[in-house]
Amino acid sequence: MIKKAVFPAAGLGTRFLPLTKSSPKEMLPLVDKPLIHYCVEEAVLSGIENIIIITGMGKTAIEDYFDISLELERNLIKRGKKKLAKEMRKISDLAEIFYVRQKETLGLGHAILCARSFVGQEAFAVILADDIIDAKIPVMRQMIQIYNRMKAPVLAVERVPREKVSSYGIIKGEKVSDGVYLIKDVVEKPPASRAPSNLGIIGRYILTPEIFDILDNTRPGKMGEIQLTDAIRVLLNERSIYAYEITGERYDCGDKAGFIKANLAFSLKRGDISREVKEFIRKLNIQ
Ligand code: G1P
Repeated sequence: MIKKAVFPAAGLGTRFLPLTKSSPKEMLPLVDKPLIHYCVEEAVLSGIENIIIITGMGKTAIEDYFDISLELERNLIKRGKKKLAKEMRKISDLAEIFYVRQKETLGLGHAILCARSFVGQEAFAVILADDIIDAKIPVMRQMIQIYNRMKAPVLAVERVPREKVSSYGIIKGEKVSDGVYLIKDVVEKPPASRAPSNLGIIGRYILTPEIFDILDNTRPGKMGEIQLTDAIRVLLNERSIYAYEITGERYDCGDKAGFIKANLAFSLKRGDISREVKEFIRKLNIQ
């Protein structure tokens, strides 16, 4: 069983500057909850019990969010908002969360390496909080089912349009069953002309602890960063790794347009505001 999840959250969020100059990208709101809240919920609904968030400079808002705020709760109760106060407490009860700081932003691979002693000798999940996936069965739960069947690392993938291929890790795979591919190769952000397919890795992984020794020896790659994709490529020489085409609607909230789309889609599903939002969209009279 997969009981631990690593949430890398130390990145600079350069695509969202200037906002990310002083607030973490993981705290961007999707209607009224931060992105990372949805991902922690997904993890918990998938059976994850312990979470480690890899934080860094300027990320304390994440820790505050999952902590208890007695002052806020007292204030809400004083104003007769007991239900809301209870809801606030539920956030800190969601999961057991640990934190470790990545002292330098040396890349996703290095961030995962910071979780080494937390993970120990078990297979573990990795969740990137800027990928929000709306799915009937939480995507990490879907992936754990594949892991249990294949007993091997699993990367979530989806088909991406040609113009977006260079924004993702891209796999070359051989289909083994519905939605499951045996990975033959993986490349970090290739130009579309040299990409082995259009199956892009999205922010959900199930990895095994062998990855840590490899990460430890991985040199900086694309963007001068220690890339998780490069380490996975080395791991391919040692064992089978699978890609799983997820079932669900994914929003790349690390991308401005993706973030806006997610907010529109989620607000249209919210009883309290959907009517007003729909009315507004209609009035925009978009051609
Ligand atoms: C990272 C990975 C990339 C993956 C992507 C998914 O890139 O390096 O392989 O496709 O996450 O969101 P980033 O988005 O951090 O640039």
